[in-house]
Amino acid sequence: MNSRLTRRRFIKGVIFFGAAASSGAGFYLASAASRPAGGVERLISLNVNGRTRRVDVTPQETLAHTLRYKLGLTGTKIGCNRGECGACTVTVDDVTHYACSMLTHSVKDRAVVTVEGLRAADGSLHPVQQAFIDELSPQCGFCTPGQIMSAVALLKTNPRPTREEARQALAGNLCRCGAYDHYLNGVMRASGQLS
Ligand code: FES
Ligand code: FES
Repeated sequence: MNSRLTRRRFIKGVIFFGAAASSGAGFYLASAASRPAGGVERLISLNVNGRTRRVDVTPQETLAHTLRYKLGLTGTKIGCNRGECGACTVTVDDVTHYACSMLTHSVKDRAVVTVEGLRAADGSLHPVQQAFIDELSPQCGFCTPGQIMSAVALLKTNPRPTREEARQALAGNLCRCGAYDHYLNGVMRASGQLS
């Protein structure tokens, strides 16, 4: 690896922006979304990361597609695109959801948060993001945004989970690199139970 591109710098990029290689699934959806939508209202308002966003949404469009290809929030990954891998995990009203398996029209009056929405106004990282950096949790980084969102939702309702509770909370987030223990270390650190 280039000495200027250290592993920690790579991980910071993943944590900040969810910058990792995307699957091809979204490109298929991108073309599907251009089909005519009939008489259903398409121009709707969404509450994403605390901002109101006006966006043109087809009736069958998934939230993952809207976030990535309409709003440019590419931190939300599309892996399996069928509710199996958790790469697309976001929170809706503080509850985790697979964005690939929700219709965008179903979240019109709800608060959607993606990995891009976790940073504080002063630019500082969410404690989960910082802990994942400190624990060098990601490997390739593809699953990282989803792991972060699941951990954030967990700590909101259970600030000091046991390792087993954390394992269960992140069970819906698959990691091809097998970095599960590193992510759990990050959750335990973020909850103040690891120094
Ligand atoms: S892309 Fe949504 S669960 Fe895999
Ligand atoms: S870090 Fe590579 S898939 Fe999880």
